[in-house]
Amino acid sequence: ALISLRQLLDHAAEHGYGMPAFNANNMEQVHAVMQAADEVDAPVIIQASAGARKYAGEPFLRHLIIAAAEQYPHIPIVLHQDHGGEPAVCLSSIQSGFTSVMMDGSLMPDMKTPSTYEYNVEVTRQVTEMAHWLGVSVEGELGCLGSLETGMAGEEDGSGAEGQLSHDQLLTDPDEAADFVKKTGVDALAIAIGTSHGAYKFTRPPTGDILAIQRIKEIHARVPNTHLVMHGSSSVPQDWLKIINEHGGDMGETYGVPVEEIQEGIKHGVRKVNIDTDLRMASTGAIRRFLTENPKEFDPRKFLKVSTAAMKDICKARYEAFGCAGMA
Ligand code: G3H
Ligand code: 13P
Ligand code: ZN
Repeated sequence: ALISLRQLLDHAAEHGYGMPAFNANNMEQVHAVMQAADEVDAPVIIQASAGARKYAGEPFLRHLIIAAAEQYPHIPIVLHQDHGGEPAVCLSSIQSGFTSVMMDGSLMPDMKTPSTYEYNVEVTRQVTEMAHWLGVSVEGELGCLGSLETGMAGEEDGSGAEGQLSHDQLLTDPDEAADFVKKTGVDALAIAIGTSHGAYKFTRPPTGDILAIQRIKEIHARVPNTHLVMHGSSSVPQDWLKIINEHGGDMGETYGVPVEEIQEGIKHGVRKVNIDTDLRMASTGAIRRFLTENPKEFDPRKFLKVSTAAMKDICKARYEAFGCAGMA
């Protein structure tokens, strides 16, 4: 059954676990997330980005989730819209049946330029007011995701976005978080602690100077009733990186957010952990390996099957590591 993000994360807070929120764009990803959840009895958050809606088309995405709910009636599912760039995007997702939306007002609608605090409060407050009338949950974002190593807002390909961000912009301020939550009424708050989107997060395994896990405690202390969200939380599995590069791929050396650091975050109020890149890497690695090892094969179901299995293994590992196994 579809439930709201608030319902699920309240349960997570009560029982002290964190929820991976997996991005999905197609049937194989939805299969992977659901099969893993079914095996370990975990609830599910599936999120769709603007890119996913463009890729699959809104009706196809919606019906994939309806299909998931029908095939797995015992698993609670949150259908969440990832990174809404403006209130209109959130409203259209609400109309199409999403049970949760993210109003990302940390950036202007171009999704590149950092916004002002006042703008962020205003758009997030508007969306929250409307969403709550309909029982839909809202995630806001305060602070800009980006690398404390380079000062750059992360782009998926590892290049920087709109110029340099200051150290302050890259870390959510706890006092500002308290004010933001009070003014907007959001259910969940995405915070900036040095992670960035995509595969190229860190040039070395992250330590305290480039990944500010400590900051989570300070923010949580100020907004104890708002569920914290970590974006850019892929761990960038080194085994899949190796498999990709051994089978014709060419990805550079790179490191993600270690699962142990996420577990530390969950101890201090993180309830939603966004993961996209890890599934992309598992899928690509599995397909590359399969096609090199089976050059005569041309039935796409064969390589899509190994892709689904590889993604499922990652989902299962995260459910177990974040404590949500057995919580469905
Ligand atoms: O927020 C970033 C997610 O990884 C979604 O990426 O916009 O390419 O679908 P996307
Ligand atoms: P990753 O690129 O680390 O998987 O982050 C995904 C994300 O934050 C989606 O909103
Ligand atoms: Zn994100």
